[in-house]
Amino acid sequence: MTPVRLAVLVSGTGTILESFYEHGLNVSVVASDRECRGLDVARTNGSDVVLVERKAYGGFAKDFDREAYTLALTKELVSRGVTLVAMAGFGTILSATFHDAFPGRVLNTHPSLLPDFKGWHAVRLALEAGVRETGCTVHIATTELDDGPILAQRSVPVLSGDNEETLHERIKNVERTLYPEVLVRVIEALEHGDEPSSLAQ
Ligand code: GRF
Repeated sequence: MTPVRLAVLVSGTGTILESFYEHGLNVSVVASDRECRGLDVARTNGSDVVLVERKAYGGFAKDFDREAYTLALTKELVSRGVTLVAMAGFGTILSATFHDAFPGRVLNTHPSLLPDFKGWHAVRLALEAGVRETGCTVHIATTELDDGPILAQRSVPVLSGDNEETLHERIKNVERTLYPEVLVRVIEALEHGDEPSSLAQ
């Protein structure tokens, strides 16, 4: 049995990554597209840290070279023997090259009950829509943004007086339990020779 080597992709505060360590997950590699608190969390916890800066490939300008960026990040993870990838607040959409290197093995968490409220502003869209309940979704990522087989969802109430920050924090609290729980199950499945898709709802 080949042990699973987990890489986590972060771009922000990395509180979900922190929850992985708290749940005892073995995070081999943490990669980011920018210097961020998430990388400090990784350094503190002794994971191998990979920084492939987006700004070296055009940053957030129109001519951002997504293909070259994706290839560079893919090479870093492949050379470290990564076999499972968990995106946890990663801010760059990767091209098909990445998904081809880790077919069906790239997971993501999204702060809404997919298929509702895809995209970067899921929490704001839920507030604007006036829904009484939203939540989070852990799914297998594909080349389509916030799409792919759903592994788990959990709902969260929207309370009167909520703003984007308070609601997002309530959702993230749930993600910090749900995502590590799903990862434990995915790793067990892989160790038994099953793919993450075997856990799809
Ligand atoms: C999470 O809500 C995740 O769903 C979204 O970005 C947030 C990451 O939070 N894609 P953190 O950086 O782990 O605190």
